[in-house]
Formats: sequence, C-alpha cells, structure tokens
Amino acid sequence: MKNNVEKNTTEKILVLDFGGQYNQLIARRVREQHVYAEIKPYNKISADEIRSVGYKGIIFTGGPNSVYDESSPHYDPEILELGIPILGICYGVQLMAYMAEGEICSAENSSEYGKTLVYTEKNVLFRDVPEESVCWMSHTDFVKTPPVGFNVIAHTEKCPCAAMCDESRKLYGVQFHPEVTHTVYGKQMLRNFLFEICSCAGEWKMENFVENSIEKYRSKLAGKRVLLALSGGVDSSVAAVLLHKAIGQNLTCVFVDHGLLRKDEGDFVEQTFRSQFGMNLIRVNAQDRFLNKLSGVTEPERKRKIIGEEFIRVFEDEAKKLGKMDVLVQGTIYPDVVESGNGDSAVIKSHHNVGGLPDVISFDEIVEPFRELFKDEVREAGTQLGIPHELVWRQPFPGPGLAVRVIGEITKEKLDILREADAIFREEIAKAGLEGTTNQYFAVLTDLRSVGVMGDARTYGYTIALRAVTTDDFMTAEWTRLPYEVLERASSRITNEVGGITRVVYDITSKPPATVEWE
Ligand code: XMP
Repeated sequence: MKNNVEKNTTEKILVLDFGGQYNQLIARRVREQHVYAEIKPYNKISADEIRSVGYKGIIFTGGPNSVYDESSPHYDPEILELGIPILGICYGVQLMAYMAEGEICSAENSSEYGKTLVYTEKNVLFRDVPEESVCWMSHTDFVKTPPVGFNVIAHTEKCPCAAMCDESRKLYGVQFHPEVTHTVYGKQMLRNFLFEICSCAGEWKMENFVENSIEKYRSKLAGKRVLLALSGGVDSSVAAVLLHKAIGQNLTCVFVDHGLLRKDEGDFVEQTFRSQFGMNLIRVNAQDRFLNKLSGVTEPERKRKIIGEEFIRVFEDEAKKLGKMDVLVQGTIYPDVVESGNGDSAVIKSHHNVGGLPDVISFDEIVEPFRELFKDEVREAGTQLGIPHELVWRQPFPGPGLAVRVIGEITKEKLDILREADAIFREEIAKAGLEGTTNQYFAVLTDLRSVGVMGDARTYGYTIALRAVTTDDFMTAEWTRLPYEVLERASSRITNEVGGITRVVYDITSKPPATVEWE
C-alpha cells in the first residue's frame, strides 16, 4: 500500500536549534534513517505548539553559549514534561540539565576538543556500542551534577558526565556530537534514539515522496497554467521533470540563456528537456542583453546584481508574452528555508537564484516541491524520476555563470577563451576517471597577462587558473590534490589548443580563507 504525503510526514522528529553549527547535519543524519526531521529555531516554536504537532522525538542541538550567560538561548522547562523523548547534544545536554536544576561546570581547563575516548555504560542509547569508543568533543562547559532522576551513563577522562539519562521520562543527553562522523558509533546511537527510544518506524522514503508529489500536483494543479524557470541546475531540472510527470504540457519551462554558460551547455539543456523529456520549453537567447549590461563592469558584487536583475527582466518579458500564468514553480530547497528562518549572518556573496521573481510578476500561487528536501535528497528524487546520471550528479554551477570566473571586465572574446579552457580541463578530469573524487572543478580566466614563447616568437596572453575542490557542503572546502599528470595534460592542451593563453596555474587555496569561486 502506498503511503500518502500526510502519513509520510506524520512521523517527525523536531531538531530544536540553539544556534549550533551542526543543526542541518543532525536533521540529515535523522533522515538518513528514513525518519523525517525538521529544524526550528528555539525561539520560533513554543512547548504548546510542539505538543500539538505530535513529534515522535526532539533533539536539542548544540550552541555556542554557556547556559549561565544571561543572553544565551533558554527554553520553557515544560518541554521536559511533554512526555516526548528528548536527546540533548552538547549545549543541548547542558541546557537540559540546567532546566532540571542540575549543575553545570564552566572552566577553561576542562575543555575538550577533537577525538576523545568515551566510556559508556549499559543503556538503550548505547545498544550495540562498545564500552570504549571514539567520540567527537567540542566544549568548555559540562554537566557536573546531573539533575535529580538522571543517571550518568558515559564519561571521558576529563568529563565526568559525557552522557546522562532519565529513562523513565525518556530524557537523554550527550556532551559529544553523535552526528559527526568522527564519533565512530554516532550513527548507531542516533538509531537507538530514533527506533528504540522514540519508537519510530522509518517510513520516510524517497520513492514515496516522488510518487506522492506527482499525485499531489496532478490534482492540485489540474487545469492550471504553470511556469518554471529552468536553469539546467539540479534543483530546477528535477522540479521540471517532476511537474512534467504530474501535469504534462500544462507546464511551460523558460530557460534563459544568458550567454554565461559553459561550452555547449545551452544546447545540452535544450536537447535534454525538449527532445528527451518532450517538455514545453522556451529557450531565450539573451546573450547580447546580458553582455551589454555587463559592459565595462569589473566589480564582482555589481556583476552579480546586474545579472540577477537582468535575469528577472528577461523572465518577466517572456512571461508577459505567455499571457496569464497561474502558478510559478521554484526550486527552493530545505537549507534555503532554514537559513532564511535563522539567518543574520554576513553576506559574503549575493547568490543569484530565481527566488525574487514573484515580486515582479503576479501569480496566484507558488509551488516549491523541494522545500522539505536537502540537496542530496533532491538528487535521489531525480534518480527515482529517471533523470540521467550526468544531470543529477552535475557539479554545482553558480547562477551568474562564467561571469564570476572571468575576472575583470567580461567580453565575448574572454568568455569564449574561458569556455574552451574549461571544457578541456573537465574533459581531462573525466578521462582520468576523477569526476567522483573532486566535488567541483573549473577554469578561471584571470585578468593577468604574462609573457610566453611559442616557436621562436614572443607571446603575451592571459593566465588561466584551474580550481578543483573537495567538500561535503561547500561551506568549507579543501583544494583537491589532483595528480600532476592530469594537471600537466590539461595545461599543455590548454596552451596548445586555446588561442590567447600563455600560462596555466593551479589554485591551492582552501576555503576559508578563499571562497570556491574567485568572485
Ligand atoms: P563560494 O564561492 O561562495 O561558493 O565558496 C560555494 C558554492 O556556491 C556556488 N555559488 C553559487 N551558486 N548562485 C548559486 O546558485 C550563486 O550566485 C553562487 N555563487 C557561488 C559555488 O559554485 C560553490 O559551489
């Protein structure tokens, strides 16, 4: 029997966010176990609301503060009385102890950071976990005396209470981070919490999500005219195929080719969606409009703004030609939702996505089919929908495209040079079978010219930088240690086959301090 969407989402875990850096990781770890998890900032949901949603369990995240700090996040102690199992992690366990009147110790010399041996007692949270194992610690404060009713169930050399529980009330807490892979048995502990303590059934499955979404949109959008901005990236591509399966030709996809795409990319997108999937696709060739607007502009943020705005203008013009459309589809994913709910972090780069569109064109409704999904879940949905592997597993490509990879002023000539060099680099990585070992790799056309020699003649051409990074989340990244032979072949082919380049360099900066893109 098929689950319907409501059933899929009834079994929910709440990740109550106290400002920890791992909030999304915790939710992903829970979902990997086929249990749906959602993140809520601690100050956006009350104990009463938690009760009414009917969560199967709650996880308190870590956070950067000390519970004795007046301004640190606190919570209504009533939450401990709701009868819902709770697992507190790091700051979460300290907060739990504090709320139940235990004692927290705050001392610099008690800090633990990094891999630490933890000794666990016999307890349902540690079922199938050895008595001694490695965990990941990152704390200064710790629970010195657990509250009345709680027992210590783990310790480390420095931390007398590395885990505690009140089994009768199903309240558990760990000082270490089970969500981080360095905690060797972390996954097992989370499984124990979900299945043994919260009695979850593990019904959150992607095939159900896909089938249910198709059915849902088929009835919800019946007879409506639906518009989708297709970029060729993973999220909008998977959304397009899903909606196409649901409503067929009532879906119109508009693909704005801003002329800042990689070699042959525009044709690939057109061919895949129009010929292969038979979609109603409009390709707008707007290269000249974008190049005109970008003429003479060198400042990175200005470039991004111009492209974002022009994208909206072009899309708007196209939408007007189509007459009244009822619904706009957006490829918003869960991290966008979470980050916009919490976020007051500094803007490093203004990311260009199609998120601002509804302000300028009016639609009766906006549909965001992946609002609840993480990126890897969208890819999984794409696979379930039969989208070719090379599309679902495409490396990320920034909205402003090659504009942020041509340093300085953008011209057609520079874009063409970059496209050729980038294609060669990607081809060499593919030939060496390295596509799966680096997460993003591309060429950048620097604004630097240097002297070279070819035959007997002096040359004076551009410097191409090659960049390849290894990362889980793109928030931090390591430069990839590509084999010298691959770099050598790429360099030699680029200088030989692409006119106007005299020099090739490899970027060996990680993020931080650099970012992945150069602009
Ligand atoms: P940075 O350069 O910020 O990039 O370290 C992190 C990841 O984000 C991609 N990126 C973008 N993606 N719109 C996007 O959709 C953008 O404006 C944008 N800028 C950077 C970048 O390619 C990398 O994967």
